Amino acid sequence: MQIIRALDGLELGVAMVRQHGNTLALVPTMGALHDGHLALIAEARRVADRVAATIFVNPLQFNDPKDLEKYPRTEEADLAKLEAAGCDLVWLPTPDQLYPAGFATSISVRGVSERWEGEHRPGHFDGVATVVAKLLLAVRPDIAIFGEKDWQQLAVIRRMATDLGLGIGILGHPTVREADGLAMSSRNALLGTDERAQAVAIPQVLGEIARQILAGESVAASLANGKARLLAAGFSGVDYLALVDGASLEPLETVGENMRLLVAAKLGTVRLIDNIPVTSE
Ligand code: PAJ
Repeated sequence: MQIIRALDGLELGVAMVRQHGNTLALVPTMGALHDGHLALIAEARRVADRVAATIFVNPLQFNDPKDLEKYPRTEEADLAKLEAAGCDLVWLPTPDQLYPAGFATSISVRGVSERWEGEHRPGHFDGVATVVAKLLLAVRPDIAIFGEKDWQQLAVIRRMATDLGLGIGILGHPTVREADGLAMSSRNALLGTDERAQAVAIPQVLGEIARQILAGESVAASLANGKARLLAAGFSGVDYLALVDGASLEPLETVGENMRLLVAAKLGTVRLIDNIPVTSE
């Protein structure tokens, strides 16, 4: 596995993995890698001849400086996991490589970015869209893979890639979960033992709401019950719990075609997000 740190080594590194016409899939990450990230690497291996990953804790997308500071950083373990997963190239840019002095450009995606995470984390999706555009333009893979865990992020990136005509396929991959159903997340490492036990309420409540909605119960009442259940389970706050159209991210008051349940809730100082499809299959 090639480990590239300097921007000026990237072009040659990518040319080497692309030799003989190999196709390339990219998995952008912020490190602290877990099996969810590694599932994206495995998917990348299925859809392309060669796999590249990036590890970059992007300061632009952290609206809270404390969140950026405490974001887990486990570089050595990450590199070992990527190597074992069959990654061919990893690029670890530094902030000054991606954001040169005087950096003044921002990519802002209207519509899909505005509600939910966008509302609760002002500037977050501008930071995501800007860094993902930069990473994709620097590596120029055929395909880039993102997790459905961050459903709204995936929608923002799809919109951005289409609007900018990047010519790079954006592929979503289903959420990988712990045995008890909690979505894997780098932030789970920040949960205390009790909080970790309480966190399972998120997938449980999402599943209950989905069943209630499919059984014809009122959407508003199901969401209100779900919110009360999360607060009773020990969550200190629920930023949103919503039934949305999976493509437009607009809220649904009644049953629709492409339904997704989204949630963001806080356990102590840790903010967790999750989502599931609402289908009868
Ligand atoms: P990060 O949180 O490190 O996630 C990297 C990728 O892994 C994202 O596409 C995310 O959706 C996916 N992922 C995380 N947990 C997952 C899980 N349990 N199952 C499946 N996929 C999962 O998301 C980011 O980094 C950043 O915003 C980034 C896109 C790299 C831009 O900075």
